[in-house]
Amino acid sequence: MGLLPKPFRALVIGSSGTIGSAFMRLLENNPACAKVEGISRHSIYPIDYRLPETIESSAHSLAALGPFQLIINTIGLLHSEKWMPEKKLADLNHAQLNELMNINAIGPALTIKNFSKLLDPQNSVMATLSAKVGSIEDNRLGGWYSYRASKAALNMLIKTAAIELKRTKPNIAMIVLHPGTVNSNLSKPFRGQEIGRNADDAVKDMFHVLESATKEDSGSFLSYSGERLPW
Ligand SMILES: NC(=O)c1ccc[n+]([C@@H]2O[C@H](COP(=O)([O-])OP(=O)(O)OC[C@H]3O[C@@H](n4cnc5c(N)ncnc54)[C@H](OP(=O)(O)O)[C@@H]3O)[C@@H](O)[C@H]2O)c1
Repeated sequence: MGLLPKPFRALVIGSSGTIGSAFMRLLENNPACAKVEGISRHSIYPIDYRLPETIESSAHSLAALGPFQLIINTIGLLHSEKWMPEKKLADLNHAQLNELMNINAIGPALTIKNFSKLLDPQNSVMATLSAKVGSIEDNRLGGWYSYRASKAALNMLIKTAAIELKRTKPNIAMIVLHPGTVNSNLSKPFRGQEIGRNADDAVKDMFHVLESATKEDSGSFLSYSGERLPW
């Protein structure tokens, strides 16, 4: 049986994004979800990975609304107005590597540090969105250096946190989740509209994976279909 109790309280981090806002809609319409809070750069209790102190202050402010049985972090970055994913070694640059490590790995790790304190120690699930392209084993095409490396670093940070939490809070599942290709701002420059799925369909599948998650699943890299992905 899954860890997620009924009713449960949820928090979506990155609720302004395509997948984040779809999770908000799904949870707002789920009768088992007693309350869902959403935070982003421009929400009340803002969280901005370019201002790392906001991670702790946001968690501190939200503590009074917890504990939460489900926390989903959807924050992530692939491209910006200044650069696109690298196609070759010659494209590597410090600013891009630094920014993607910061937004995709360091920010989410500090989010786990600060927000795992808001999880219900009796039974809860915390999921962070990663990407299959962060799998080292599955990397056959190359390219996208900084995005791939930042998601691989994220995966290691979450796996390590899951091992620690298994000892201290064994009824929490810490999950790494791949959403599949979803039509969003992030995927738009890469034919996301043509090859990506609708975000509402993707979150329906991901929620099913999260509501079925058990404590044995903690520290797993799971696809939206429930498939275990190679690290
Ligand atoms: N779409 C896909 O095909 C796909 C595939 C694999 C993995 N993913 C992963 O899924 C997650 C969600 O992606 P999405 O498709 O929903 O992308 P999206 O629509 O671009 O949403 C990205 C979210 O990240 C937030 N964000 C970006 N930089 C931030 C910062 N410095 N501080 C705080 N928040 C920041 C955005 O906030 P603002 O609204 O303030 O900009 C937004 O809420 C990401 O982790 C992504 O890597 C997506």
